[in-house]
Formats: sequence, C-alpha cells, structure tokens
Amino acid sequence: MCDHPLSDRLLDWYDTHARTLPWRVPPEQSRQGRRADPYRVWLSEVMLQQTTVAAVKAYFDVFTKRWPRVQDLAAAADEDVMAAWAGLGYYARARNLLKCARVIAYELDGRFPDTREGLQALPGIGPYTSAAIAAIAFDQPATVVDGNVERVMARLHAVPTPLPAAKPELTARATALTPPDRCGDYAQAVMDLGATICTPRNPACSLCPWRADCAAHAQGIAAELPRKTRKAPKPIRQGTAFVGRRVDGAWLLERRPPSGLLGGMLGWPGSDWAEDPAPTPPPASGHWTPLTGEVRHTFTHFHLRLRLQVAHLPDTSTPSRGQFISGDAFDPDDLPTVMAKAFHLSRDWFDGSD
Ligand code: ADE
Repeated sequence: MCDHPLSDRLLDWYDTHARTLPWRVPPEQSRQGRRADPYRVWLSEVMLQQTTVAAVKAYFDVFTKRWPRVQDLAAAADEDVMAAWAGLGYYARARNLLKCARVIAYELDGRFPDTREGLQALPGIGPYTSAAIAAIAFDQPATVVDGNVERVMARLHAVPTPLPAAKPELTARATALTPPDRCGDYAQAVMDLGATICTPRNPACSLCPWRADCAAHAQGIAAELPRKTRKAPKPIRQGTAFVGRRVDGAWLLERRPPSGLLGGMLGWPGSDWAEDPAPTPPPASGHWTPLTGEVRHTFTHFHLRLRLQVAHLPDTSTPSRGQFISGDAFDPDDLPTVMAKAFHLSRDWFDGSD
C-alpha cells in the first residue's frame, strides 16, 4: 500500500477485477514479488500497439509456443516471423521486433535492460513500450500512457482540450497519480479500467472505483471526453494486383521491399498504389482477366481500392517479377490482410474456371 488514496483505490479494484491475460502475472502473485518475463511483456506490448487484446491473444500464443525465449526469436528466419505476424498489420513492428531480439540475444547476453533509457536504446522501443516494460516487468515507477489511460485521465480531471493537443497535460496527470509501489499492477489497472469500465462510448460509471473523484462524471460529461480534433478525411488510392496460378498449382508471389508499407511481406505483384496510378504490365505473359469486384482495405493514411487481374499461367512461365511458390508451401494466412483479401476474392474464379 502507498498513501495515495486514488491509486490505492484503483489497486484494490484491480486485485479483484484484473483481466486474466496470457502475458500477465495476476495481482495475487505480483503482490508476492513475482514479476512478468520481460520477453513476454515486450512481445505483448509490441503486438498490442494499434491492435486489440482479443486479436493479439492468438498471435501471442503462437509466438511464445514457437519462440519461447528471446534467443529463439533472434534465431528465427525473417520470413517465418513475417509470416507468423501476417494479419496483425503495421509490419514495421515485426521487422523491429526481430532487430531488437537480435540485439538482446547477441549483444546483451539475452537480458533485457531494466531501465527506460536502456530499453529505449533498442530498435522499435519508444517511450510507451519502455515505460510498459520498466513498470510491468521491473516494477519501476514509470508512467504508461496509452489511449485508455488518456481517456481515463481526461475524464477524471474533466480536461476539455481536444486530443492530440491534450497529450502533454494528460501525461502529466497520469504521472502525478503513479504510485511509488506496485507500479506494474497500477499501469495495468489503469489500462483495465479504460478497457472494461471507462470505455469510449458507454462508460459504466456506476461500477467505477474512481466515480466519486471523477470530475467528468460529476458534470455528466464522461461519455463526451476526451474531445478530439477532427481529422482530415483519408484519401482514396487505387491499384491493380495480378493473381497468377501456374498449372501445377504454384502461385506467383513477390516479396515486397524490406522497408515501406507492408515491407518484407509476401504479396501479389502489381501497380503502385496512388490516386491515379500509371498502368503496370502483368508480371508474366498470359491471358489476364480483370475481375469485376475490387478489394477494399484501409491503411493508416489512405483507403485502398485494389482491382484484380487473374490468370492461369503455363508450366513454362518465366515471370519478370516475383517467384512461384508451390500450392503446398503457400498458406494464405501468411499474407498481409489486403493480400489475403485479394486471394479470397480471386478464389472463386480459380475454383470455377478449373
Ligand atoms: N494494452 C496495452 N498493453 C496492455 C496490457 N499490458 N494489458 C492490457 N491491455 C493492454
């Protein structure tokens, strides 16, 4: 216990309401001094950036079964890790994950640094992830500020400033409330409060351990906060992708350049994605058929409308781009979501035209 009534009340709530999560040490064990494995905390926090807990659980399970220690991940082939990450999005995270695992395994003797500064020197670890690992794995008084925490702070203090301008104030508010003990539990308690009670649309204020202290609740404006500055609408980009299958069932795929959008991932060869892309020749000669539908996918900065062309390619095909991957070795789950959507849209054509 510390003598901060607000954080004490939240920790009491967490003791009985903590979510059970595969990377987490439950509060009854954490109070006995057991700490979460920094490898598991790091992996989960990287996966949880921009991705929901529900989506992350299955990926976390696959990764930790296949690569139980940071040394195992460091020794993995890049393509295997990129394939296992497929579907989680934001693929720079997976590339940095590998870089970081290799620095820890080969330069730091397999041990994670236990300070925020040491952690932030590693690839892909910024202020958020360093604070989360320092607090959760090493119980240091670091303040973890994610979207949940910002929402809780905006409401607790009825901060009227819209996001993102309010970020410094919300971070300062969160820092002022961080207790000196049970820092990891506290960080996860605020996240759980934001995820289960102080939710974006219909906050369950009647169940909240901070209800009596909450300025937004007192003013009846909890659900309206945090305010947000309206974002500019996303532009629409277009493109064409070529889905080709050889007579023996092999697919014509191309590994994308290591950096940039979907960097390092497998995909269908195609045009650039732009508001008005220049036409691109097909990657192999054949009778290419345009499909009537299109793939729609939203990235961080634009909406994509992707037209597809499909073809059966002869055994003698010599593509100018990409390489054939045999039907047995090809798993559409290894593709990023936009490319998997293209595969599924073209499947009827291949199934129907065989
Ligand atoms: N979201 C980000 N990090 C989290 C964590 N450690 N527990 C629950 N939700 C989270």
